[in-house]
Amino acid sequence: MIINIYHCKMCRMYIILFAVVALIALCETKQCDQTPPHASVQEPSENKGPFKMIIETKMQNLSYLPDQTYVVTLLSTNSTRPFRWFMITAEDPDMDNNTYGVISPQVDVGRLKTLDTETGRKSRYSERCFNSVENMDNSDKYRVDIHWISPKQNDKKSEQRVRLRAMVAENEEVWYMGDENLVILLHKDNRPPIDSPPTTPVEVCNLCSEARYEVIFSGKWSRVSHPHQYPSKPDENGYTHMLGASHSSYYVLWQQGEEASPGLVKLVVNADPTLLEREIIEKMSEKNGTRTLIRGKRRHHPYMFESSHSLFRVDRFHHQFSIVVGMRPSPDWFLGTSNFELCTADGWYSSAKIPLYPWDAGVMDGVSYESPTAVTTPTDHINRVEVGSFNKESPFYQMNLNDLKPFAHLEVKLLDTYQLTGEDCSEENKDLEEPQDDVGAEETVEEYPQVAESKQKMSCAGKWSEWSPCVPYDGSCGMGIQTRRKLKAEDRDNRQFYRKFNDQDSRQGNSVSNGCYGNDDTISIQNQECFVDC
Ligand SMILES: *[C@@H]1O[C@H](CO)[C@@H](O)[C@H](O)[C@H]1NC(C)=O
Ligand SMILES: *[C@@H]1O[C@H](CO)[C@@H](O)[C@H](O)[C@H]1NC(C)=O
Ligand SMILES: *[C@@H]1O[C@H](CO)[C@@H](O)[C@H](O)[C@H]1NC(C)=O
Ligand SMILES: *[C@@H]1O[C@H](CO)[C@@H](O)[C@H](O)[C@H]1NC(C)=O
Repeated sequence: MIINIYHCKMCRMYIILFAVVALIALCETKQCDQTPPHASVQEPSENKGPFKMIIETKMQNLSYLPDQTYVVTLLSTNSTRPFRWFMITAEDPDMDNNTYGVISPQVDVGRLKTLDTETGRKSRYSERCFNSVENMDNSDKYRVDIHWISPKQNDKKSEQRVRLRAMVAENEEVWYMGDENLVILLHKDNRPPIDSPPTTPVEVCNLCSEARYEVIFSGKWSRVSHPHQYPSKPDENGYTHMLGASHSSYYVLWQQGEEASPGLVKLVVNADPTLLEREIIEKMSEKNGTRTLIRGKRRHHPYMFESSHSLFRVDRFHHQFSIVVGMRPSPDWFLGTSNFELCTADGWYSSAKIPLYPWDAGVMDGVSYESPTAVTTPTDHINRVEVGSFNKESPFYQMNLNDLKPFAHLEVKLLDTYQLTGEDCSEENKDLEEPQDDVGAEETVEEYPQVAESKQKMSCAGKWSEWSPCVPYDGSCGMGIQTRRKLKAEDRDNRQFYRKFNDQDSRQGNSVSNGCYGNDDTISIQNQECFVDC
């Protein structure tokens, strides 16, 4: 069928629509023309002007860290030569060689922000160009400060560069552009943020042993270290339960740039750990998903400095851990670590202590701890709270991560390792760690349900395990959830194991639950509600 486009309204509409979309895409990839609108001379001045643009990066070389706020200053170095117009643009330097018609992917160049000063506002967002600010009026200026918020961490491009380019005009005839004083080329500093785990996540762990760890969360949020906007009723301050899991590299409890799970939302907004706990338990699996549920006490004022801890186990399938701790009061902020790798080429990672800074779950709007909140629509992704915020109401007003005191410390310590016998670990991957004696974990530390524990070897295909200890939905008693597992496959390789839950988890009464687990992936898991006597 031949469609005559002149007689087809829909076709014409689509063509126009396509043209508009293509035009928008082209505009975004075209360099910004900074020529002042009032210029009577269309070429920038050839003499070197007394103007320069500077950026405070606190680093020798011009490199930037992601998600941070930097002050960009445009100034005149001659006290008798003010400027009237200016424009500052953040752009991708690679766009220079972009030929028309080729639509390149949009590059995150961060955001420029105008600033209010005592003498009023000097800059506004440009309507002519993307990612640009320009003069507000024609007044004489000697200095203008704006903020540049660097691109987000989750931009995968490692070799990222951003160029800040300025135009300064003294009058219709004398204006400057392209001078080296007016261009700043910034490179991304690829060092990880200060709150990153010290190890790099690996997909496959070849250690032929299991290990037991202790994780300790120590709160540091206080009026002394975080005076700005500190809650007016500190009696109501607190941290939620510490929740988390040891898990495989495929499991994500939370991650920057991802949406928060319903359970995480409940924990951070309502301080209710039950749903997140259930989500973690439901993902328990022999070779994937989660292994140990990490659950530490919640801490309230005036006991916020008391630490919260928990034990957990790792194996070569579940070699990472993640935790979250909600902050009260706050819109939806939490502290935590995500996909912390414990499997290294030298064996199980021995110990680490990292600072924690607040994250925003992206579900509630709110500038400060106590500010009125509203549901964010549409739901945003998990990100750092706006460090370097421009809002004076924000606790992080004009502060960068490196200026901010940690809100908590997280410590993780290897307690013991257990050599595996009968596991299918190839010769070259054999790790020669000696089993250590139990280094006496504190008695108050509780260990939560796990998929597999001791190393007795028995075939048990087709059988259901006993129910795991009952994990109360809230607090230490009441309704809760428990799990059990079944091996469907025949025990062909004789690699199934009969294992029991760790008998340290004795507070729930049925301290020793037996489970059958195997190396086969066809394991079914059942959950049921249960009750713990108070
Ligand atoms: C900038 O300097 C820091 C040390 O101050 C260094 O770690 C970083 O790699 C440098 N960045 C670039 C892009 O050269
Ligand atoms: C500042 O500019 C004036 C002309 O406007 C010039 O005479 C003077 O030498 C300049 N001062 C400096 C320090 O460059
Ligand atoms: C653009 O291409 C020229 C040569 O074709 C090269 O010298 C220059 O570095 C390129 N610019 C960028 C920003 O890649
Ligand atoms: C684990 O689960 C993820 C999806 O949840 C899947 O992509 C991956 O292949 C699984 N890994 C193994 C070893 O089964």
